[in-house]
Order: sequence, then structure tokens, then C-alpha cells
Amino acid sequence: MSKLQIHDVSVVYPGLNGGEQVRALSDINFTIEPGEFVVALGASGCGKTTLLSLMAGFISPTEGYLTLGESQISGLPRVACGIDLHDKIDGPGKERGVVFQKHALLPWLNVIENTEFGLKLQGIGKKERRERATHFLKLVGLEEFHNHPVYQLSGGMQQRVGIARALTNDPKMLLLDEPLG
Ligand SMILES: Nc1ncnc2c1ncn2[C@@H]1O[C@H](COP(=O)(O)OP(=O)(O)OP(=O)(O)O)[C@@H](O)[C@H]1O
Ligand SMILES: [Mg+2]
Repeated sequence: MSKLQIHDVSVVYPGLNGGEQVRALSDINFTIEPGEFVVALGASGCGKTTLLSLMAGFISPTEGYLTLGESQISGLPRVACGIDLHDKIDGPGKERGVVFQKHALLPWLNVIENTEFGLKLQGIGKKERRERATHFLKLVGLEEFHNHPVYQLSGGMQQRVGIARALTNDPKMLLLDEPLG
């Protein structure tokens, strides 16, 4: 996995109905090296989810830019960073798996269908996706619930389906937003 770098990043959210803007992040710089395990700690509302959304490619920074190896995830290109724009990743990618703060499962799909959803989008056949999804459901202790609708699970169990779903895609980087909160 390539290193992920955050360069001079700020995020300002527009105010609601012309109200005051919210500056969620200011002048953030750091690098995550391959193999590193990094934790962001901070009070509620300090910008942790915003930071993760940037790294996942769900939002773009107001200022600055993010890079993954030689590719740019989002933000304006900077001459100084010498990135070839053809390498732009531009948004989310399956190499960056996300476990959301709120589980964000699809309510019309059962547990295994949720877990294998990313593989289905990639066009992987049913047998292989069932095998891979079952392996990770087993790992999070939910194999026996594979046919259950997600509303029949507790909040913690739903969150574990979210973790199994992220792992099933075999991501190179896992972005976890309070996954055990
Ligand atoms: N879509 C949005 N539009 C406007 N403001 C937002 C939006 N998302 C977050 N904010 C604001 O940005 C700031 C940072 O929010 P964020 O969700 O990143 O915090 P957090 O550190 O994850 O908090 P928590 O620990 O409660 O999950 C907060 O002031 C929040 O109100
Ligand atoms: Mg949050």
C-alpha cells in the first residue's frame, strides 16, 4: 500500500440557509506510512469524521489536497507536488474500505447480501462472493445470522456486519469511524 499524505488541508462547510460557515478542519498536515495504525482522538465535533470522509474521497477539501502514493485523491493540484493529473483517483475507491460511525447497511438486503454488496458491484460471481462474505461474517461472530434482515440485529451486531462488509472487499487501507463506539 502506498503512503497517504494530507497537505495543508482545511474544510469549511457552508452555513445552513445563509447562516455562519463551520470550519471543521484547519491546516492539517500528516502522512500515514504503509503498515501504520493511526488513531485520531478528539472531542465530539472536532472533525474526526470529516477527516475520514476526506481520506475515503467522499468530500473534497476547501483548501489543500490529499495524495495516495503518486495519485491525488482530491483537492486542487499543486505545482509543487508534481503530480501527473492522469493519476487522479478522484473520490472513493475499493482500496480504501470504510466502516461508518453509523453502520449504513442497506435495510432491504439481509446480512450476507449486505456483506457481499461491494463484491457484487465489482461483478464477482455469487459462489465466490458468498464464500468470502461467509469467511468474514464468521470472523466477526455472525455466521449464523447470515439470512437475517439487518433490523433484527442489535446495534453492535449491525456494526460488526459493517466491519465484515469492509473486510470482504480486501481493502489496502481500512478507515474506521468509531467502529466499536
Ligand atoms: N455536512 C455538514 N454540513 C455542515 N456542517 C457539518 C457537516 N458535517 C459536519 N459538520 C460540522 O463540522 C464539525 C465537525 O464534525 P465531524 O462530524 O467531523 O466531528 P466528529 O469529530 O466526527 O464528531 P463526533 O465525535 O461527534 O462524531 C462539527 O461542528 C459539525 O457540526
Ligand atoms: Mg464523527
